[in-house]
Amino acid sequence: CTSGGQVTATPTPTAPTGWQPPAEPMAFPEGFVWGAATSAFQVEGSTTADGRGQSIWDTFAATPGRIRDGSTGDPAADHYRLWESDLDLVADLGLAAYRFSVAWPRIQPTGSGDVNQPGVDFYRRLVDGLLSRGIRPAITLYHWDLPQALQDAGGWAVRETADRFGEYAAIMFEALRDVDATWLTINEPKTTAYVGHRWGVHAPGITDVDQAAAAIHHQLLGHGRTVEAFRASGAAGGIGIALNLLPVYPTSRDADPAAVHTDAVENRMFLEPVLLGRYPSDAIGTKPGQLPADAGAFQDLVLEGDLEVISSPLDVLAVQYYGVTGVDETGNQVDLYPTSAAVWQQVHPEGLYDLLIDLLIDYPDAPPLLITENGIPDPTPEGTTDDVERLEFLRAHLQQAARAIGDGVELAGYYAWSLLDNFEWAEGMSQRWGLVHVDFETQARTPKASMDWYSTVVRANEVPP
Ligand code: NOJ
Repeated sequence: CTSGGQVTATPTPTAPTGWQPPAEPMAFPEGFVWGAATSAFQVEGSTTADGRGQSIWDTFAATPGRIRDGSTGDPAADHYRLWESDLDLVADLGLAAYRFSVAWPRIQPTGSGDVNQPGVDFYRRLVDGLLSRGIRPAITLYHWDLPQALQDAGGWAVRETADRFGEYAAIMFEALRDVDATWLTINEPKTTAYVGHRWGVHAPGITDVDQAAAAIHHQLLGHGRTVEAFRASGAAGGIGIALNLLPVYPTSRDADPAAVHTDAVENRMFLEPVLLGRYPSDAIGTKPGQLPADAGAFQDLVLEGDLEVISSPLDVLAVQYYGVTGVDETGNQVDLYPTSAAVWQQVHPEGLYDLLIDLLIDYPDAPPLLITENGIPDPTPEGTTDDVERLEFLRAHLQQAARAIGDGVELAGYYAWSLLDNFEWAEGMSQRWGLVHVDFETQARTPKASMDWYSTVVRANEVPP
């Protein structure tokens, strides 16, 4: 249902598949990596400390009306100052891995040229702190905080930004070349393209479909250049890209063609270039569900050799899974399942199984998979530490992950989103995704019920019924 035009093979979403979780715990393979994730802008705060430059999210958050509750990235969860006790927390909870992102404007305040050493030093301390606690780092190089100076020069809509990204990444590979880390190039290029450049709901707040299409190509080019820089650096560890994938279910037989196009826009537009070295021919155009950008103009952006760079072999394919969508015959995305407090999130744990199996079938040569995000917000802005919904969400999704592994999927690990309540982009501090509650007045951390439960899962390497 997510790729390769498999839509018609998808069971109708309302038909039960008959799968029931077993009455016994479901075990994970030995060495399965259990972690939790955050990103720099969402947790760090200290946005002017130690020479950090301005990012597009600083600009966006400072623009009245852009963030629901008017909050900014400062102090967020104050992690730039509280990182040591946060790492103690990760260790106490028994997590084997922690995913964070590097803020590009801390490394190069204007996105190019000289290195801001205090910024590099912060991440060196963080990584050393993880290693000394026996925790594996997963490091995202771009989680949406583009240096504002690069946006002023055109941002992801221009090709030069891909070059700058490769240069910045090379600085980080050099600085951490001895570290056995899982590197991730770009987090959710789809969100940056569509939500940031098409709908204007995220930074940089652009509403131009051709710029959105250009942002796809230039992010993917930046990804490919970064993979090349990684190989050239001889740094330890492995590298991949983090794609948010969305199983697409047609609401009726008549909706099959529109669902195929939606699948192209949501999934194949990213999977095919990265894994197969080509763009799907049916993502851009005027049919229902397609990205209505200028297909000719898009092709003009793709220069000779680009797709080879973009499809540089990866060590891991990182998948972020939040839910599914239905598509009707007019190409509209419709709700087939209940949504969480995030209106875009249709919760359907079996969609994770469908997604992992589809990837196995459609991309047999893909590298091992890693789930680098999966989670749900608290039902209310105030949040709760008695987060039964999240606990049940995690249980149901982990059961589907275990089921997929049992059916042949090579899944290397799972990172819950998120370690901490944090700055949820346009929702500001009013939507809490943490397994650990943060009191934003005092910055006190309190593990929620879901985290206590997740700790036992991690320690036992199995998910209880
Ligand atoms: C995906 C993004 O990578 C992350 O930053 C965000 O907080 C979660 N989705 C929840 O919306």
